[in-house]
Amino acid sequence: MVDTKHKDVSWDFRKSDTKEYTHCFHNYPAMMIPQVARKLLERYGVRGGWLLDPYCGTGTSLVEASMFGMNAVGCDINPLVRLIASAKTAPPPLHILDEHLAHLDDALMQARFTEDNPCAAQVPQVFNMDYWFSGRVVEYLSVIREYILSVRDKAVRDFLWVAFSETARECSYTKNGEFKLVRMPAQKLDAYDPDVFGIFQDKLARNRKGLAAYIQRRENVEVLVTDTNTANDETPPGAQSFDLVITSPPYGDSSTIVAYGQFSRLSAEWIGLLNSRKVDRISMGGSRKYGYLPDSPVTPAIEEIRAIDRKRALQVEAFYIDLRNSIKTIASITSQRVTVCYVVGNRRVKGVTLPTDEFVEDTFSDFGFSHKETIVRNIPNKRMPLANSPSNIAGRTDSTMREECIVVCQRDA
Ligand SMILES: C[S@@+](CC[C@H](N)C(=O)[O-])C[C@H]1O[C@@H](n2cnc3c(N)ncnc32)[C@H](O)[C@@H]1O
Repeated sequence: MVDTKHKDVSWDFRKSDTKEYTHCFHNYPAMMIPQVARKLLERYGVRGGWLLDPYCGTGTSLVEASMFGMNAVGCDINPLVRLIASAKTAPPPLHILDEHLAHLDDALMQARFTEDNPCAAQVPQVFNMDYWFSGRVVEYLSVIREYILSVRDKAVRDFLWVAFSETARECSYTKNGEFKLVRMPAQKLDAYDPDVFGIFQDKLARNRKGLAAYIQRRENVEVLVTDTNTANDETPPGAQSFDLVITSPPYGDSSTIVAYGQFSRLSAEWIGLLNSRKVDRISMGGSRKYGYLPDSPVTPAIEEIRAIDRKRALQVEAFYIDLRNSIKTIASITSQRVTVCYVVGNRRVKGVTLPTDEFVEDTFSDFGFSHKETIVRNIPNKRMPLANSPSNIAGRTDSTMREECIVVCQRDA
């Protein structure tokens, strides 16, 4: 008999291509590996049924569900990733997209030839614009932005925004390979002169290829992306009886781990997405909670942290209060035959390991679920902020983030 918690390297997908289909669209911290969602769908999926991802991020599970033949609802509080998840799962017809791309090529070509003239394109309000972008980059991005704003077809517009968002980040002064907003060293600024149009067009070409492959595989199902916050007792529209949950919640509160809002801020402001600035505050554990956290497998760890740093313990507690609330909501909107699969990391705070996998298992059992198994996998190809210091001490990294747990529970018969 298989131990209910076991390491299984067949879930590492060390050599797999994680950028097939629309998965190639946009980088994001701590993205789920498509192969993990795919394998879970093969095991627990219900063709024609409904999948829920309450923390859908860029929509990895939604893309996989729609190719497997499940309808899907994804929720996320970050407007930038909702846009990405929609673009990945609601493609425009290719011939329409191609007409727009040809037209856009002409427009950019024309803009290149008039580049010595001051650009007429309107520049949006972006906080600290001059700190993050050179004047030339601002001009070029504004030309692209103005073009995208003129596109009426939402699916085409979203497709263009996704490539624009990555381009804006890549052409900014932010340091490559950093999720947090960190500016490149002063001596590099003057020499940084990216080819904005070229970068944008390369991304469009890459994404179009992925989209074409996705369209071939996508089944005729519904996919909805919403801003529902299940931690606040909100329930998503669509099916009220989900058959499968595949999700990867944040590993912890955004103050020390992955600042999703910070990662998205520049592009979100360029695009004009509302509420992008409050993402980290409304994220799991982002604000003080006055709720009560019953005893659970994380209690001893939180007490240990409290003895070292009271404030930090409150933040950690707030995160688990949110996670518990969200699990309670999910238990109330899932079907009798539901399987829930949570991909979580047992991170460390102040040197204390928090057994989040056991917390998820224990909390689901409070709401009428049984633990089926926990698969421990290595993280060879998931882009994690491994070099981020969990204790906020430069240079100190957290090795426990090199593996994650897939916790699988099913409703009691
Ligand atoms: C680990 S990421 C998910 C990544 C996703 N699986 C992917 O492949 O892109 C966690 C996500 O949870 C979102 N989030 C944080 N708090 C949330 C909440 N209370 N409700 C919904 N989403 C939340 C964050 O914005 C982030 O996008």
